[in-house]
This record gives sequence, structure tokens and C-alpha cells, in this order.
Amino acid sequence: MAPPRAPQPSPLGPGGGLYIHVPFCRTLCSYCNFVRTADHDTDLRARTVAACVAELALRRGKCASLSEGRRQLRTAYIGGGTPSALEPDLFTALLSGTVGKLPVAPDLELTVEANPESFSPAVVDAWRSAGVGRVSLGVQSLDADVLQRLGRQCDPATARGAIVLACRHFERVAADWIIGPGVQRRRLLAELTEAIGLGVGHVSLYILELHLGSDLSAAVAAGRVAMPSDARTETLYLAAVDRLAELGLRQYEVANFALPASESRHNRAYWSRRPYLGLGPGAHGLYGRWRYANTGDLSAYLASIEAGQLPPQSIDHLTPAARRLESVVLPLRTAAGVPLGLIPDRALDLPRGVRAGFWTVDSGRLRLTARGFLRIDAIEQALARGLG
Ligand SMILES: C[S@@+](CC[C@H](N)C(=O)[O-])C[C@H]1O[C@@H](n2cnc3c(N)ncnc32)[C@H](O)[C@@H]1O
Repeated sequence: MAPPRAPQPSPLGPGGGLYIHVPFCRTLCSYCNFVRTADHDTDLRARTVAACVAELALRRGKCASLSEGRRQLRTAYIGGGTPSALEPDLFTALLSGTVGKLPVAPDLELTVEANPESFSPAVVDAWRSAGVGRVSLGVQSLDADVLQRLGRQCDPATARGAIVLACRHFERVAADWIIGPGVQRRRLLAELTEAIGLGVGHVSLYILELHLGSDLSAAVAAGRVAMPSDARTETLYLAAVDRLAELGLRQYEVANFALPASESRHNRAYWSRRPYLGLGPGAHGLYGRWRYANTGDLSAYLASIEAGQLPPQSIDHLTPAARRLESVVLPLRTAAGVPLGLIPDRALDLPRGVRAGFWTVDSGRLRLTARGFLRIDAIEQALARGLG
């Protein structure tokens, strides 16, 4: 049976979010699989910013409740790529043409991602003037050897300087760390302690994923870089979880840790299936029963928008079965867990998982532990089979 026709997009509900993807980076990291380019042509950047602004107008023109101002924006997240690689005047134009054109909630959470090496005082000034309240720094490590193995164009001193600058000028500072080649337990724990001491209130701790076709996966296949074993990764992750807890950061999702009241409201909205609008090449959006993903091909994205059309996009209709699965696996990623009533019969051996330390069962909910979060892919697959 053909899926029902997609209704006109209406992604911003009360509590809706906005994501804008800035694909430009100074250099390309060997492991990254996000839509990005190291093209340094200023004209291309200006066209991309203009296209994001025009995309909002195209999507907005089809959404009466948004254009009439009945819906408010509660969170906006500018990610990449590397938004701090954008010239300050282009950044200002991007924000004023998008967030500045929408009805925003008085407590709007506005986050922008930065790389330490492009997070300059000029960037800070432009972002503060534009109302940015939360900065997310892609630190990854403060160990020169790890940064080098990851192919990062950043040294520990630059990363430390960026943390200090961010904490001096922004109320809320988040930082990303990666567990990957060369990470040493003692150093990792000391780095996290140092970052929190400097004022970082939110940490995203990722386990490096090897993407087929990436330069890093070729280096690993050729034996030039060694990935940590699963056992070592588990040791590093669990030690980091413990240290972050000692520092007062609660694990509120698989990869996210925050001081009290410092959680990312934008990310929370993703996990609770709130509607959000995505703008830019490769951006995703969600509205009602529909998810869309813009093409990641920058030329195709620009060509469509400049011709007055929405970009090529894939639109998925979430069937009742797909929505049921999302309503289990998305909250499962969070510390709140899932009501037991939503877990399909026999999908998981609950007493066995409790004994193995993968989850707890109390107050009618199943909540994954840190050891469980490490196995989330297998747990999700078991749930999908159970619901299938
Ligand atoms: C798309 S990146 C953009 C941030 C920024 N441009 C940077 O390079 O730090 C967002 C975050 O995703 C994480 N990330 C990117 N590629 C990853 C991978 N292959 N495995 C795990 N985490 C990854 C990194 O921690 C990064 O900070």
C-alpha cells in the first residue's frame, strides 16, 4: 500500500526546535561522516547562508501556524561542520535571517558548535551580539598524541584556551570528548576534571565510530592506527562515567552528562519526539508522522533553493509500528528509561539483564545503567525484533 501523502510541513509546535547545518570546516577530520566541506570560497559560504534563510521562507510559506506566529521556537542549534569557521558577518546574517524571523519563546535556548582553533574573540563578539547563550566546543581530547591520531588540527593549548574563552563569555558551555585511539585512562579522567574545573557544565562523551570509506578506517585497515578493543573502550567509558558523576555531572543520556539544570533542552526534544525544523544541506526535521532529510550534496541543495524550490529530500512516513519502536528506543537512551508496559513480551530477559548490571527495574520502569548504555545497539535490535 502506498504511504499517505506528506502533509505540508508544520514542524514547529509549541516547544518546537530548529537545527541549522553549517557544512564548512577549515580542514576535514579523518573520522567524520557528517555533511561537510573544506571549500574556502567566501562566495559559496555566502550563498549557503542565503540558501538557509531562503529555505526557511520556503518551508514557512507552507506552514500557516508558523507564519501567523502561533507557534514558538524554544530551542535552536547551529551545528556542523564547523559554525565557528563561518565569518562573523555571515553568522550574524544566518541568525538574523532564521531565528530572527521566527516567533521565539522568552527562554529560547540557542546553542552553537565551535572548534577550538576557529573560536576567536571576533567569533565570540558576533555570537554574543546575536544572542547565543550556549556554546558546544568540539574538544575531543587534551592529549596531543590523541589529537594527532584523530587527525585534528588543534593542539591542547589551543583547546584549553578555547575552553577558558568560552567559559568567560558564555553562561553555558558544553564540550565533546571522544574515546578512540591512544586514549589513556588517567589522562582522560584528568582532562574531564580540568574541563569541569574551568567551567564546562555539560560533556558529550562519544565512542569513536569507524565509518566505511573514511580516511581513519583506511588507516586502521592498513595498520597505521589501532582502535581500542571493546574491553578497553568499556573500561575507559565506565571510568569516565564514574569520574563525571564524582564531579556532579549526571548521565542523562547514552553520551550526555550535565551539571544540575545544564542539560541540553534541544537534545531532550529529539529524544521526546518534539517537532523540529532542519535547515541546510544534510539537515533533518520531524513533524507529526514525518521525518525529512535534506540532500547532503551542497551543489544540489544550492541549485534547488536558488531556483525557488525546496531541496531534494527524503521524506519518511512513520508507520504506527515505526512510531511504536521510536516511543521505546528513544526514551531508552535517556536516564528516565521506559515504562515496562511498552517493552514487548519476551523481547528482553529482564531478570537476567538486572543480574548482569545492564538495567534496573523499579517504579514500573526499565532504566539502562552505564554498562547497558554501552550495549544499546543490541538492546534496540532485540526490542525491534520483539515489536516486529
Ligand atoms: C559533527 S561534529 C561537529 C563538531 C566540530 N566541527 C568538531 O569537529 O569538533 C559533532 C561531534 O560529533 C562527534 N563525532 C564526529 N564524528 C564522530 C565519529 N566518527 N564517532 C564518534 N563521534 C563523532 C565529535 O565528538 C564532534 O564533536
